[in-house]
Amino acid sequence: MKCLVTGGAGFIGSHIIEYLLKHQHEVVCLDNFDPSYDPAIKKTNIAHFLHNRNFELVKGDVRDKDMLKKSLIDINYIFHEAALVSVMESMRDPVKTIEVNTIGTLNILDVALSSNVKKTIIASSAAVYGDLPELPKKESMIPAPKSPYAISKLNCEYAAKIFFEEYGLKTTSLRYFNVYGPRQDLTSPYAAVIPNFIKKALKNETITIYGDGTQTRDFIFIDDVVHSNELAMSKGDGGVFNVANGRTISINTLAELIIELTDSGSKILYKEPRKGDIKYSIADITEIKKIGFKPVFSLKDGLKYTIKWFSHL
Ligand SMILES: NC(=O)c1ccc[n+]([C@@H]2O[C@H](COP(=O)([O-])OP(=O)(O)OC[C@H]3O[C@@H](n4cnc5c(N)ncnc54)[C@H](O)[C@@H]3O)[C@@H](O)[C@H]2O)c1
Repeated sequence: MKCLVTGGAGFIGSHIIEYLLKHQHEVVCLDNFDPSYDPAIKKTNIAHFLHNRNFELVKGDVRDKDMLKKSLIDINYIFHEAALVSVMESMRDPVKTIEVNTIGTLNILDVALSSNVKKTIIASSAAVYGDLPELPKKESMIPAPKSPYAISKLNCEYAAKIFFEEYGLKTTSLRYFNVYGPRQDLTSPYAAVIPNFIKKALKNETITIYGDGTQTRDFIFIDDVVHSNELAMSKGDGGVFNVANGRTISINTLAELIIELTDSGSKILYKEPRKGDIKYSIADITEIKKIGFKPVFSLKDGLKYTIKWFSHL
């Protein structure tokens, strides 16, 4: 099969590519090497694919429809990961977030339809639930986005559903909860919590927690996320699925666990909560289990792999 992975130089996209190449698929990686992140990291993420004859790199922007038309020739499957991923950044520049995330996704779906693509798998986010008080989060709940980023992701899901129901393009949206693992960007000022804590812990620097640390998250290891994408190639047409562990941990406990696993002397500093951040998060993963998903990695094991990778940087 020939697959297009958008955002393929990023964290999740590069792991999907690794899986696809390992399974003898041809891969086109499309990425604009978004300059708001360290371009060196993106290049490192894909460096080990460059000599694979089944790998092709296209530097391009999902807002550029003409370029997409050329890149989608003969593509069977699309894994659409490209996005502006920072909630904070989306609060600062909501228009750009909607342009890249929503319009970019509509471009992908539109070109996929006219290019006979077999299936398009869309990266969505648990952010669409916002601060709904009901826990755990179920796909049947009415979403309550709290940021332009969350709105942009919800738009993508609705668009994917319409393209399936009205035009017959096979799609599945995967609502990722907090994904972590090797290659996650830690250079961004909005780096995700796990790489951020690991980086500080490895250097015995102070770990900053925004809020009182009782906020909770449902963390899922990258290999489990790749598995959910693999499943979505043949299952879940037209659906939206939570991709998570179905377990929750507080940010305080996470910080303590990382300090313990890295044998670190880091102290914890508390700061004001950040705008747009949600308080509690845990997923109900009943729906995705029905199509065969089972998270394999415990948080402790996933963290060990992740710490090992970051300690070699
Ligand atoms: N990492 C998580 O915990 C998480 C959680 C929920 C949802 N998601 C979603 O998963 C997807 C992948 O996230 P990630 O963590 O790998 O992020 P990432 O920032 O590592 O990767 C995103 C990639 O998209 C590229 N990109 C940005 N704008 C682009 C554009 N206009 N055209 C082409 N490429 C562009 C970037 O250069 C980057 O390489 C995103 O859609 C994100 O919203 C991630």
